[in-house]
Amino acid sequence: MRTTKSLLLTLALALFATVAFAQITGTLHDFSGAAWNDASSGEICNACHSPHQGDVTAVVPLWSRATTAGAFAAYTSPTFNADDTGTDTDGTGAAYTATPSGVSLLCLTCHDGVSKLDYTGVATTTMTDIAAWAVRNGGADEHPISIDYNANLISADGGLHTVATASERLSAQGTVECSSCHDVHNSANIDGGSKLLAASNAGSDMCLTCHIK
Ligand code: HEC
Ligand code: HEC
Ligand code: HEC
Ligand code: HEC
Repeated sequence: MRTTKSLLLTLALALFATVAFAQITGTLHDFSGAAWNDASSGEICNACHSPHQGDVTAVVPLWSRATTAGAFAAYTSPTFNADDTGTDTDGTGAAYTATPSGVSLLCLTCHDGVSKLDYTGVATTTMTDIAAWAVRNGGADEHPISIDYNANLISADGGLHTVATASERLSAQGTVECSSCHDVHNSANIDGGSKLLAASNAGSDMCLTCHIK
């Protein structure tokens, strides 16, 4: 009986270990082997979080990184309704004046194409050095981010689901951010971790959580 129990425990621990390894480890966000990271520590989390003296002003806990120095441009289109306050959705298609904020601004401490990946600012490697994807054209031709997803916007747009329906894709601040579509930790290992998606986009399901199309 005792043997069975300890065998079960061993199996359970082995399963737990397997699950843990299926997440951020081995993804493009696993920087434990990166030359610009603290190579001697082999740590994964420290590229973005610090257990001590984290930035308490950031929306993400124990944030370790310096702010982005990138220049961002506004998304706009004739049918775009959002504005940066989220309370004046007049539907004129006037320029989207928001600069990225919230979680997106933290992604952009690397994905802006100019910031050094090393949070200490000592290493010289940037996203452009590693031929990686960074926000192009300042974000003007990317899906708009840092939008307050509220009842005014829903009514002005006419093609968006209720806040309650969209809530699983909204940030803790109730906004649309990079993290609406991506899971920085690959926690659920969606589609084998490809593109670090936050939810499966088969049949564009992720898009349809917010858009009525
Ligand atoms: C590439 C940057 C990056 C790395 C590496 C990273 N994180 Fe995060 N972490 C973030 C961001 C960005 C958020 C906010 C995510 C969001 O709002 O969806 C976050 C949020 C969190 C949170 C709070 C929200 C939650 O999910 O409970 C915890 C806890 C956390 N991270 C722990 C960790 C640990 C532990 C590691 C290492 C195994 C790690 N992170 C590695 C960027 C990172
Ligand atoms: C509306 C959903 C959505 C938002 C918001 C979003 N992405 Fe993506 N992103 C995707 C999807 C879906 C893909 C997969 C490739 C594709 O279909 O174009 C992707 C791909 C990527 C890739 C992989 C390179 C590539 O072009 O395939 C990177 C890097 C990326 N996104 C970073 C970001 C960052 C950083 C932000 C915020 C500034 C962001 N994304 C905002 C949905 C989104
Ligand atoms: C510490 C710097 C750093 C931070 C912070 C960071 N990233 Fe990345 N990200 C990278 C690097 C480096 C890559 C690898 C790019 C490459 O090799 O092409 C990457 C890759 C990606 C990819 C592509 C994954 C794939 O499978 O193709 C996505 C999507 C992505 N990041 C989204 C995000 C989002 C969303 C955030 C914020 C929630 C974020 N990143 C924060 C550095 C970072
Ligand atoms: C978290 C909710 C959310 C998700 C998920 C989402 N979107 Fe959006 N999307 C929005 C909001 C809010 C706007 C701004 C609407 C407005 O102000 O007119 C927007 C804007 C757009 C626009 C521009 C609309 C215009 O009139 O200029 C397009 C196109 C779009 N999204 C396509 C997509 C696609 C494709 C996906 C999936 C890859 C996606 N969205 C996922 C919320 C979301």
